[in-house]
Amino acid sequence: MDKDIQEVLFTEQQLQARIAELGEILTRDYEGKNPVVVGVLKGVVMFYADMIRQIKTQCEMDFMVLSSYEGTDSTGKAVLKKDLNVDIKDRHVLILEDIFDTGNSLNYTVGILKERKPASLKICTLLDKPERRRPDITLQADYVGFTIPNAFVVGYGLDYNEHYRNLPYVGILKSEVYNQ
Ligand code: IMP
Ligand code: MG
Repeated sequence: MDKDIQEVLFTEQQLQARIAELGEILTRDYEGKNPVVVGVLKGVVMFYADMIRQIKTQCEMDFMVLSSYEGTDSTGKAVLKKDLNVDIKDRHVLILEDIFDTGNSLNYTVGILKERKPASLKICTLLDKPERRRPDITLQADYVGFTIPNAFVVGYGLDYNEHYRNLPYVGILKSEVYNQ
């Protein structure tokens, strides 16, 4: 797999260091609020597992499954495949995402969760690719791990057609891999 990577953007150590920093901020912001930490599967699995262990206050875990993305280009549509188990009305909700790209999927997620009247709803994304944002989407992430340029990245949960999720780092995929 490593041979398909053009450039490593963030090593395991860099990811863990940034997650520890975010953890301090989230711990402080959510102290005493017992938030529901929502993971949007499956790209978020690695980030979720590491991030939640750095949130050092009481919280609950729950997950949603959306599907929207095939290959390297978004289809622009999101479909809810698995909903939350927890009722989030009047709860503090923190959404964890792997990457904020066009914004289609976060826009959809925030839309459906807001209707349930949570006490608060915030977004924490490991990666933010602002250059790719759909121009009409004004939504912003409240917590961002790293802002990245417009390149297709894989690893640490992120896939290209379901592969490369198990790389321990985040890297740019060589374009010949998806142009062949
Ligand atoms: P958005 O709806 O375009 O913001 O993208 C959301 C989803 O697309 C993410 O949760 C990822 O699963 C996928 N995605 C976006 N950019 C990348 C990338 O560079 N590599 C791998 N997956 C990506
Ligand atoms: Mg994906």
